[in-house]
Amino acid sequence: MQVVHHIAELRQALAGPRPAFVPTMGNLHEGHLALVRQAKATGRPVVASIFVNRLQFAPHEDFDRYPRTLPRDAELLQGAGCDLVFAPDEREMYPVPQSYKVHPPAGLGDILEGEFRPGFFTGVCTVVMKLFQIVQPGVALFGKKDYQQLRVIEGMVRDFAMPIEIVGGETVRAEDGLALSSRNGYLSDTQRAEALALRQQLLAVVEAVRSDRSAIARAEATAMQALRDRGWQPDYVAVRRRTDLAAPLDAGDALVVVAAAKIGTTRLIDNLEL
Ligand code: PAF
Repeated sequence: MQVVHHIAELRQALAGPRPAFVPTMGNLHEGHLALVRQAKATGRPVVASIFVNRLQFAPHEDFDRYPRTLPRDAELLQGAGCDLVFAPDEREMYPVPQSYKVHPPAGLGDILEGEFRPGFFTGVCTVVMKLFQIVQPGVALFGKKDYQQLRVIEGMVRDFAMPIEIVGGETVRAEDGLALSSRNGYLSDTQRAEALALRQQLLAVVEAVRSDRSAIARAEATAMQALRDRGWQPDYVAVRRRTDLAAPLDAGDALVVVAAAKIGTTRLIDNLEL
């Protein structure tokens, strides 16, 4: 496996078929590695990128303390079958301030995560568009844990007629059910134990809505309150259509419940399809 830091080197290394691409911000866990294995199964060469993208962090967020763990990440990627790692620095990705940006539509980009992290999806779309131009993948894989991000990228690729198949990977969980996330490392032992409550509340919503579809609003409010009672600061718990994350309209809509909440200073997200 080769690790390159420059666009020119990457282009040289990528002479063959269009690769399967796993974009990441590093500090990798089993969720990323599962995507790499899924990428490998396509039979294409596998490229992963590691770049902590300043554009998707608000000034008060954790850009500076986001863990940079390249040597360990490279070892893990090699073990998972990755062929090439692109790990640019900021000067390589943004040699001049990025003034052309990709703005997702408000109906999808400004709701849920976009409401609580204004500009987040513009930052994500802009860097992913740029990475796609650099890597020219045939397939790109994104974890379903970032459910809205997956839908936003699918929409971008569709609207720009990009010849890239977007594949979602299932959320990988710790044995006790906590969704793996690079941010779990911020949790103290007590918070790590408490973090399970987020998924428990999602499960409660799933159960309530499965047995009574008209109980969506009540189930969402109950979960929000239960989290508050336990000391969390929930941003949202919302049952949405899987396809576009709009509020469900028809009885036949396939649904997902998505949630974001802070425990201490750490903001966690999770979701369950129902
Ligand atoms: O999901 C992430 O890690 C990031 O949002 C991504 C897709 C690598 C863009 O920076």
